[in-house]
Amino acid sequence: MRQQMERLINGLLWIIILIFGGLALKDWVEDNYVPDAFVQPETHAPSLVKITQKVDRGDEGWLQNHFQAPIPLQGEAPEHWTEVEASLDPAQCGVCHPAQYQAWKESWHAMGMGPGLMGQLLDASENAVGQCQRCHAPNAEQYPTLSGEENPHFDEDLREAGLTCAGCHMRDWTRYGPPNESAPLPEGIEGEEAPRQPHDGFVGNEVYSDSIFCESCHDFRGNDRELKDKYLQETYEEWRRTQYAADDVTCQNCHMPDGEHSFKGIHDLEFVQAGMTVDAELRALGAGFMEPVMATLTVTNTGVGHRMPTYTTPRIVLVIEQIDESGEPIEGTRQEGFIGREVGPMLDNEAYDTRLFPEESFSLVYEADRHPNAANLDARVEVWPDEAYTRAYRIWTEKRAEDFPKGLLLLEEALQNSIDSRYIAWEQTVTIGAS
Ligand code: HEC
Ligand code: HEC
Ligand code: HEC
Ligand code: HEC
Ligand code: HEC
Repeated sequence: MRQQMERLINGLLWIIILIFGGLALKDWVEDNYVPDAFVQPETHAPSLVKITQKVDRGDEGWLQNHFQAPIPLQGEAPEHWTEVEASLDPAQCGVCHPAQYQAWKESWHAMGMGPGLMGQLLDASENAVGQCQRCHAPNAEQYPTLSGEENPHFDEDLREAGLTCAGCHMRDWTRYGPPNESAPLPEGIEGEEAPRQPHDGFVGNEVYSDSIFCESCHDFRGNDRELKDKYLQETYEEWRRTQYAADDVTCQNCHMPDGEHSFKGIHDLEFVQAGMTVDAELRALGAGFMEPVMATLTVTNTGVGHRMPTYTTPRIVLVIEQIDESGEPIEGTRQEGFIGREVGPMLDNEAYDTRLFPEESFSLVYEADRHPNAANLDARVEVWPDEAYTRAYRIWTEKRAEDFPKGLLLLEEALQNSIDSRYIAWEQTVTIGAS
């Protein structure tokens, strides 16, 4: 009888020890289980030299003479021309080409001499001005000085107009453009002067519809293949290594559909949305025992005909964070990953290069404790088109202001613009379980 009582008490004791031990262990595990926070991968996308599958380069012979630096002065316009024909002002071209003018006016080509450029050039040497304007405002009429001498043909308004119609379409007052069978020159009548087409017609050249036309400015060449054997910008060379190039889908097909001139790119929400596919997988929402919040956000390049993004300046930011009842993000719960190529301010080191060729993906894998105040989980894709400029302008305006006595105000404006250009390209919010 006594022995039975002892066994019963022993048994009960063990049960109590197991229950409390178990509870303590559960607390201990919960307190000490640390989910893995996402770390930006130090991926370095390979040099193009290593990708040998590519289409042949287009013929750039004619273009070498077409895109000189600077584009030579046009000289005297033919005497019989009217004032609108004999003008370099894009608005005058717009009198007869309104569709191209309206679209171009909103394009980044028209902003080629915006505050970010002018802020740097006001305090730069003539040599540096020439180097930059070669692509941003390439006509000699846009250069304040030529070979060290004041330029009598300098037109300040034209300089501010950036990369104008004339920069791509006009040499020695001759208009060049894609061949157009539906706009033939009128036939001359024997013995009489031929009826005249505006600006005496134009010269058609197929190179306008070839991707190589854009290479002139969108691939940087020379001695600056310094970083991991990659140029800062080599969009044409990237394109050459895609299936788009093999299928003859050109820069113009995507960026100038039907000859449209707004040249949309990374700054345009809908254009960027059409180029990427986003998948969110919300696996565990932190409701149960030992269950952290787990989610994966994946971006795939499904419509960009080169690396996404192609330049070193944009950053695509994947974000997941927990949100409280009032809709505010909860501090400490945010994790993010970056698609882009980040190079240091002196362009001498590459932190990472996670840019995506067509069909390549990047994933942010989220794992975190559920915060007691968490009501929702927010996943989104932000686009910061001018991220590297924001970093540079910040250093210049805050630490090196004395280097920019003339340009400082413009650089401050450019800094603000570079922050304001950010936008959300994709977002999804889900409720997460109560703890
Ligand atoms: C007085 C009206 C007028 C003005 C001003 C004018 N154009 Fe034209 N342009 C025409 C007409 C008409 C044609 C032939 C029909 C067409 O293709 O639109 C033409 C043709 C062209 C073409 C060839 C189009 C093709 O199909 O390949 C280009 C390029 C061009 N113009 C550029 C310019 C530029 C650049 C300016 C300003 C510097 C300008 N034009 C000013 C009327 C004008
Ligand atoms: C003469 C040089 C030049 C040529 C030729 C040229 N571009 Fe550009 N492009 C530029 C410059 C400079 C900028 C940046 C302008 C600025 O400062 O805002 C630019 C900007 C752009 C952008 C905007 C990028 C963004 O950030 O959103 C797109 C898209 C673009 N170009 C496409 C093209 C395509 C397509 C072609 C060929 C049909 C072409 N460009 C030909 C010089 C050029
Ligand atoms: C070989 C052509 C080329 C040269 C030379 C060049 N750029 Fe650009 N620049 C571009 C292109 C193309 C873009 C747009 C790139 C894109 O979005 O992919 C651009 C964009 C920019 C932008 C951002 C757009 C803006 O207007 O704020 C700034 C700032 C800029 N360049 C400054 C300069 C400066 C300063 C120089 C001279 C040191 C220079 N660039 C020389 C082609 C060139
Ligand atoms: C960055 C270079 C660039 C600039 C700047 C530019 N164009 Fe063009 N333009 C082109 C190219 C390239 C084509 C051929 C597009 C194609 O074949 O798909 C073209 C085509 C044209 C055509 C032929 C008809 C058509 O739409 O296909 C006209 C007309 C024309 N441009 C007028 C203008 C006018 C006017 C301006 C200024 C308001 C201008 N362009 C600015 C590159 C440029
Ligand atoms: C299959 C369609 C497609 C083709 C072909 C294509 N692009 Fe793009 N491009 C895009 C899309 C979509 C974006 C926006 C997403 C991005 O920026 O990566 C873009 C962005 C850009 C930008 C913005 C800057 C950046 O860093 O991304 C420039 C400049 C540009 N393209 C130039 C070119 C040039 C030059 C060519 C030809 C050599 C070309 N593109 C061919 C679709 C295309």
